[in-house]
Amino acid sequence: MSQLRHFIDLWKLEPEVLRTILDDAHTRKASRKGWTTGMVDHDAPGKGRRLAMIFEKHSTRTRFSFDAGMTQLGGSTLISTASDMQLGRGETIEDTARVLSRMVDAVMIRANNHEDVQRFAQYSSVPVVNGLTDKSHPCQIMADLLTFEEHLGRVEGQTIAWIGDGNNVCSTFIQAAAKFRFKLQIACPPQYHPDIHDLARGAEWVTMTDDPVAAVAGAQCVVSDTWVSMGDTDGEARLDAFEAYQVDDALMDKAAPGAKFMHCLPAHRGEEVTDEVLDGPRSLVWDEAENRIHAQKSILAWCFGAIG
Ligand code: CP
Ligand code: NVA
Repeated sequence: MSQLRHFIDLWKLEPEVLRTILDDAHTRKASRKGWTTGMVDHDAPGKGRRLAMIFEKHSTRTRFSFDAGMTQLGGSTLISTASDMQLGRGETIEDTARVLSRMVDAVMIRANNHEDVQRFAQYSSVPVVNGLTDKSHPCQIMADLLTFEEHLGRVEGQTIAWIGDGNNVCSTFIQAAAKFRFKLQIACPPQYHPDIHDLARGAEWVTMTDDPVAAVAGAQCVVSDTWVSMGDTDGEARLDAFEAYQVDDALMDKAAPGAKFMHCLPAHRGEEVTDEVLDGPRSLVWDEAENRIHAQKSILAWCFGAIG
């Protein structure tokens, strides 16, 4: 079995590891107050290290936050779309993994198929980080939990509501609920339910309903995401099915007093969330986007063996 520290599936990682990463992100972020984005952390755990980033899908936050984060760790990055690589002409994932392992110290991949990231990791001799697949988005959820804790205190024992599609981000929240021991109340149309394996993994911590009002009851934080994810081909049907799942001020008012709103972005204003909520005082989305940097730095620091 590989001793490499891959960050691909939250459900495969120990709760202590995930807590160590999250605590390091809190500390690392606090220690940079007033610094510019290019300044290097005192311990520079990425010094002398290179991170390759491969994208099969579009990205704004993942691309720039990993670049900023690696710079702040004292390392550097190299970025490519998969279609610009020989991967796009049929070179195998296995051979690509073997080659890149000789050239960089870690690889972050955003892939269409989750299994491709797992296969890459199997043949890589450097750590591999999941930058989003059809099944999950673990870096996003670590940033979300960092954001939650900054505004609402430790997440253990608290309640988060997920409104909308049971997609990759929702599935990762389910995995996280079981690891960090928080309650996750999901409202989604039955035909767009989350992955059943993830539901089984989070069974003790997750409830499901098709009623958004029921899902936000008692929740300290309400979360939504696009109704049409990258790779979804049934956009029209989705817009119809999710019509009743928009997060607006009226729905936010039914959550716990002081409840906040999160969204991984990009948002489709006027679909899954209104402008009022996204731009309003309950929205944490800009902190959440920035926290991609801080959470991923600690993920990389763990991959490099600098923490944990
Ligand atoms: N939230 C997120 O992953 O954003 P990007 O698709 O812009 O990377
Ligand atoms: N669920 C969305 C998240 C984008 C960051 C998607 O996969 O497209």
